[in-house]
Amino acid sequence: MDKSNFDVVVIGAGPAGYVCAIRCAQLGLTVACVDAWSDKNNKPSPGGTCLNVGCIPSKALLDSSHHYSFLANHAAEHGIATGQCEIDVAKMLQRKNKIVKTLTIGVKGLLKKNKVTFVHGNAAIKSAKEVHVANDGADQVLIAESIVIATGSKPFELDFLPIDQKQIVDSTGALELKQVPKHLGVIGAGVIGLEMASVWSRLGAKVTIWESAEQFLPTVDKDIAKQASKIISSQGLDIQLNSKVQAATKNKASVSVTVLNAEGESQIEVDCLLVAIGRAANTENLGLSDLGVKQDSRGFIEVDAQWKTSADGIYAIGDVIGGAMLAHKSSEEGAALAEQLANQHGHVNYAATPWVIYTWPEIAWVGETEQKLQSDNVDYKTGSFPFMALGRARTMGETEGMIKFIADANTDRLLSVHIIGPNASELIAEGVVAIESELTAEDLARTVHGHPTLSEGMHEAALDVDGRAIHF
Ligand code: FAD
Ligand code: NAI
Repeated sequence: MDKSNFDVVVIGAGPAGYVCAIRCAQLGLTVACVDAWSDKNNKPSPGGTCLNVGCIPSKALLDSSHHYSFLANHAAEHGIATGQCEIDVAKMLQRKNKIVKTLTIGVKGLLKKNKVTFVHGNAAIKSAKEVHVANDGADQVLIAESIVIATGSKPFELDFLPIDQKQIVDSTGALELKQVPKHLGVIGAGVIGLEMASVWSRLGAKVTIWESAEQFLPTVDKDIAKQASKIISSQGLDIQLNSKVQAATKNKASVSVTVLNAEGESQIEVDCLLVAIGRAANTENLGLSDLGVKQDSRGFIEVDAQWKTSADGIYAIGDVIGGAMLAHKSSEEGAALAEQLANQHGHVNYAATPWVIYTWPEIAWVGETEQKLQSDNVDYKTGSFPFMALGRARTMGETEGMIKFIADANTDRLLSVHIIGPNASELIAEGVVAIESELTAEDLARTVHGHPTLSEGMHEAALDVDGRAIHF
């Protein structure tokens, strides 16, 4: 077996792993990055869940279906006549696959440019200094001073619902449906459930979502969640809270779903059922228990503030350690850990990490919700602004939603920003910078914003914290 020595071996080339490997190399460390992902032609496809079956392909389909929905439902308002709109699903999927391919090739190129040794195959940790990689008989041993586990996550499954990626799908299957389902059933009204339901509903599917929780989007600020519930339901997504799927039977061309809610048990036929109930840590076959790497009750690897596991010389970052399972959080951990390994002082400000849900309008936030601040007895003040009062939102025909600021009542320091509205995913960046920089609401209220822009809504919400919004 081939044996090579490195300062650092990173297992996983998702947003956590490849960023960690590149940053290590930039800082002068010798690095290998191992990843098992293969494309349909059995070629390496680094980029992890995010690039292959997550952030990028889902946003490609969200963008395509958004264009379709605009042309089918709103183009006429602009005086644009399109005739009957048709969707070519095969072409839409081809476009998505091409974007994925371009970006995964890009990651390969970045690793090469930074002189990271990329190894394709399945890694197992044999000791705190030794990683074995299996790849069709061409096995390798990598010796390292430090090992970084960045193996990501995989969808949770329900015992009674085996995924076949045709009639019963997880998020990966939902990105590959060959035609628009007549009726799509979704288990879980979380981030994946809402995003994938949006794609297929815009293209014409009837969608029913069963959510076991009593509340819609409980981790989102209550004012934003209330508006989201109203807007998303008005788009035709039937969200049934407090509802549990008890069983499902596959028929030739449909799935019979048994649902239990306050009214009792009912039977519903759908032609495709998406299971989107959260994600679990990917730690199978790594050999963690033999090494003494502790995992919590849900299987996530336990780490300290420097991402050290309970085994000396072994670190973990990204989805595999739980917390917010987000690509940008994972990448920041990757870069910060690399800096720690190079004796620098990398850190991640989790309190200034944004969340985005890519429904339309988009939902985005940074910082604590009002309900959390209330339960923590924080003395705060709020300001808000509706998109309907904004000139640019009117010109775009995108008047649904609002921006809400929460600031400390005594110091005026910005505590959080919550948005539901057009391009919320981009607008939130101003709130992130403000919170990272410990700015006050007054700082943003005194910042000049271009006109006419959606960002003027941020300005007005900041002014409203002090009760002096001009346009509402
Ligand atoms: P991963 O991206 O999962 O990468 C882990 C890598 O490790 C994989 O390539 C895997 O093959 C490899 N690996 C695992 N075990 C081994 C082994 N033993 N040997 C070798 N290699 C191994 N996040 C956002 O921030 N924004 C979004 O819009 C967004 N959209 C999403 C949409 C969907 C449908 C899904 C499923 C997720 C989405 N996410 C999004 C979440 C995001 O994809 C994850 O948070 C992110 O990919 C985590 O990065 P990671 O590097 O920790 O793990
Ligand atoms: P999630 O945690 O966001 O939502 C799962 C939902 O399923 C919850 O509302 C939960 O109450 C519900 N649920 C759980 N068990 C259930 C059951 N048996 N029956 C009915 N409902 C049930 O998880 P999801 O949507 O699978 O996404 C996983 C993670 O992936 C997200 O938490 C997020 O971190 C990441 N992601 C991020 C995206 C983004 O940043 N835009 C997009 C997609 C995923």
